[in-house]
Amino acid sequence: MRILIAYYTQTGNTEQIARTIHKGISDAHTATILKNDALDTISFGNFDLVFIGSPCHAGTISEPVRRVLTSLPDKPYFQLAGFITHASAAYSKSDYEQCMIYLDSLCKKKRITYHGCFECQGKLAPQLHDFIKKSKKISDDEWNRMVAEMNEHPGADDERNAMNFARDVIARTDT
Ligand SMILES: Cc1cc2nc3c(=O)[nH]c(=O)nc-3n(C[C@H](O)[C@H](O)[C@H](O)COP(=O)(O)O)c2cc1C
Repeated sequence: MRILIAYYTQTGNTEQIARTIHKGISDAHTATILKNDALDTISFGNFDLVFIGSPCHAGTISEPVRRVLTSLPDKPYFQLAGFITHASAAYSKSDYEQCMIYLDSLCKKKRITYHGCFECQGKLAPQLHDFIKKSKKISDDEWNRMVAEMNEHPGADDERNAMNFARDVIARTDT
């Protein structure tokens, strides 16, 4: 099976999950992995299964990934699965849910066979800390607890879950 793992990342969390998926399937499959600017240069049509990864940005999927997805043809041969990283401890669960709804609706609209989406929390870029903390109007202690929680992700459990997700998707695609 020809597998592509394509993702956008700014600060490395989504990349960590992409590499984990790559590693997790490499015993049985060879996959192409690429990111960021390379997203605009590759044809998904050369693959049977595409894992597409994105951070959650401003309550939805990142713009570079949205651009690639909206340019996909209707009813393509390849099948799709997603992976999203987010900072829901500091933002809101509904943000990454929105990313998942976006992927689901896009696949329905374009009649792409879709295998669901993995999500996990990531660290929040330090330059956003002051801005987000102020917007939440919370104490330093509460904020420090949130940051500590986010800094543990993606962790070993997230990596294990991502690998299991990818293997399940492949098992379903193979049959
Ligand atoms: C510009 C920007 C906007 C973000 N907006 C959200 C958001 O709306 N909701 C959320 O849960 N996380 C948000 N985040 C946090 C990222 O989704 C999270 O840190 C993600 O793991 C980053 O992935 P990356 O390291 O692959 O870039 C935002 C981060 C950035 C840099």
